[in-house]
Amino acid sequence: MLSPEATSKFITFEGGEGAGKTTQCQALLKRLRQRGMVVLLTKEPGGTPFGHGIRMWLKGTRRERIVPEAELFLFLASRAQLASQVIRPALLRGEVVICDRYTESTYAYQGYGRGIDREAIGIMNKVATEGLSSDLVVLLDVPPELGLTRTGNDYFQREGLEFHRRVRQGYLDMAAREGERWLVVDAALPPGEVSEIVWGRVRRMLEGKGG
Ligand code: TYD
Repeated sequence: MLSPEATSKFITFEGGEGAGKTTQCQALLKRLRQRGMVVLLTKEPGGTPFGHGIRMWLKGTRRERIVPEAELFLFLASRAQLASQVIRPALLRGEVVICDRYTESTYAYQGYGRGIDREAIGIMNKVATEGLSSDLVVLLDVPPELGLTRTGNDYFQREGLEFHRRVRQGYLDMAAREGERWLVVDAALPPGEVSEIVWGRVRRMLEGKGG
């Protein structure tokens, strides 16, 4: 049985463009709520008025090329506000938090994709989140050749396939290195199958049976 109490857990969804994170976040939210759990769903960049402003700014048309380091700090700024104002308080209230992208996106996109020093990103992620990492990272893995056909990609449209391949490889490397905290799902599967796999793992975690 899942007890609605004492189940404060932090679950993040990661993946490249068109992996279906939004659909899977919603599916998990629904399942958890059906079982009477208090769940907060949020996303990055965004999730706070300040973060939303950053999101809108990033998505807007710009007359100036943003250097990778400036881009990095925007994602980190959004994250700092979200972690402190939304995620941590919800976890302290004992809720389950689902976040569509988090620290691993920065490793994948700005680290593996843009080539910014990953050790430095690790330190900056820690500062931004005051060391708050997720209990489970669900990686929806999809080849960029497929993912990019499923979505219009606002921020990284101009980046070629090679960029998106590095992002994907980055995610897979992190998952292989960290193992237990990650669930890697083939996101080319039908969405219903993906959500079953995710639910199986989340249920075990909530029942206290670990990964
Ligand atoms: P969004 O429209 O939310 O797309 P998605 O549905 O794929 O999440 O745009 C978020 C984009 O920002 C996405 O292309 C990944 C990128 N991103 C980074 O490059 N670094 C980060 O730290 C985060 C959180 C997102």
